[in-house]
Amino acid sequence: MAPPRSFPTLSAADSVAFVGGVAVPTWAKGIIIRRKAATALAERLDTDARAVRRMQRLRAKYGEGPLLLRNPVRPQAILLRVEDVRRVLDGAPEPFTPASSEKRAALSHFEPHNSLITRGPERGPRRAFHDAALESGCPVHSMADRWVPIVEAETDAILAGAGSLGELDWRVFFEGWMRIVRRIVLGAEAADDRELTDRIARLRGRANWAFAAPKNRALRAAFHDRLGAHLARAEPDSLAARVARMPGAAAAEPTQQMAQWFFAFDPAGMATFRALALLLAHPQALARACAEAASDAPRADLPFLRAALVEALRLYPTTPMVLRQTTRETEWAEGTLPAGTGILIFAPFFHRDDQRLPNAHRFAPEDRLGEDPAQAPPFLPFSAGPAACPARHLVPMLASMVLARILRSGRRIVLRDPQRLDGGKPLPGTLDPFTLRFALPAGG
Ligand code: HEM
Repeated sequence: MAPPRSFPTLSAADSVAFVGGVAVPTWAKGIIIRRKAATALAERLDTDARAVRRMQRLRAKYGEGPLLLRNPVRPQAILLRVEDVRRVLDGAPEPFTPASSEKRAALSHFEPHNSLITRGPERGPRRAFHDAALESGCPVHSMADRWVPIVEAETDAILAGAGSLGELDWRVFFEGWMRIVRRIVLGAEAADDRELTDRIARLRGRANWAFAAPKNRALRAAFHDRLGAHLARAEPDSLAARVARMPGAAAAEPTQQMAQWFFAFDPAGMATFRALALLLAHPQALARACAEAASDAPRADLPFLRAALVEALRLYPTTPMVLRQTTRETEWAEGTLPAGTGILIFAPFFHRDDQRLPNAHRFAPEDRLGEDPAQAPPFLPFSAGPAACPARHLVPMLASMVLARILRSGRRIVLRDPQRLDGGKPLPGTLDPFTLRFALPAGG
């Protein structure tokens, strides 16, 4: 169906420029799993900052939107107004479904029955599975006390490994981070099961290509079988034990839901690593974080360190494109959008809009204190509304526990290449986590 005339529609040249300057660079970094070389290049070329400026130019030329892109495949709207973002996110799953065609194509490579890509009545129980297990409404998960010793021991192991090399890099950090994840989700027996997380990483690599890559059904089945075997143990103190006790959990197909957790804990590790770098590059924030880490506060309830994590996600959102699709005609001041219209919310534009936000390019965790991370427009690191991330409290909680342990360790830790995050200048639009490195001077 032709898009209605009354919506501002990008010219052919602006449509091409949008695809080339916003969509392609974001896609190139890897939507489902980051590509290392492309992420490094994105930082060098500052592609995210350029994309935000391009969006600002579109707003200046066409108004506040929604804008329509010239797209031969289907009508595609781009949102520029915070109120429109609210409306769309609050309107999940009907009439704005999160299960957009491209997301279904990508995620079905490893979790075809996941809530995020489910339409119709089956979505409810699948989403409820996540809310119950991850305790989406609770700032401190009820199992947190049992996880503190796990997080602390594994963080100490990260520091010991880094100490022997004289440096903490992504490889050492990520290895330890995923051990924490496997222990918390599945229990101690899964701590060393790198094969599990490697399998889903391989599937995610194919998912980056969405429709364009054939599915590897054998690998997908092998991943789910292995995850299912871990789950069957229901080890005490793990989320697997929690799931085993949840009424009706089996009907939600637990491995289909939990595949998303193993996917999403990877960007959570990146955000934690970036938060560490940002703290070390900002002495005032660091002093406050160290004071909190050293205090007698409960180890799972560290508001400033949580705020630092959320602020790292504002600056460097790990879900840059939040996608929705209309399930029926929707009415707007500008006219009617047909069913099947794609809707794009480009998070960096809302997070870094320096024409509207005073601290757009500054690291200011104090501004995030006390915010619900999924209820803070115009920021949407965890999305918002009924399809907001159910781990929006769990992720800042675990990240803050790791950061506190590092800062309390007594080890001197120094960001290498500090000019990448010079607090005196606007922060860069892209921060490649794979090349962040921290020196741990011997005897420090
Ligand atoms: C940096 C860390 C994370 C960020 C920034 C994040 C962000 C998001 C966002 C933006 C969405 C909405 C996606 C969309 O509408 O397409 C989402 C959905 C979701 N996230 Fe997260 N997430 C993170 C980590 C996690 C973790 C660790 C888990 C599980 C343990 C998790 C579980 C989920 C689930 C299950 C959904 C789908 C919810 C639904 O179907 O309604 N996320 N997340």
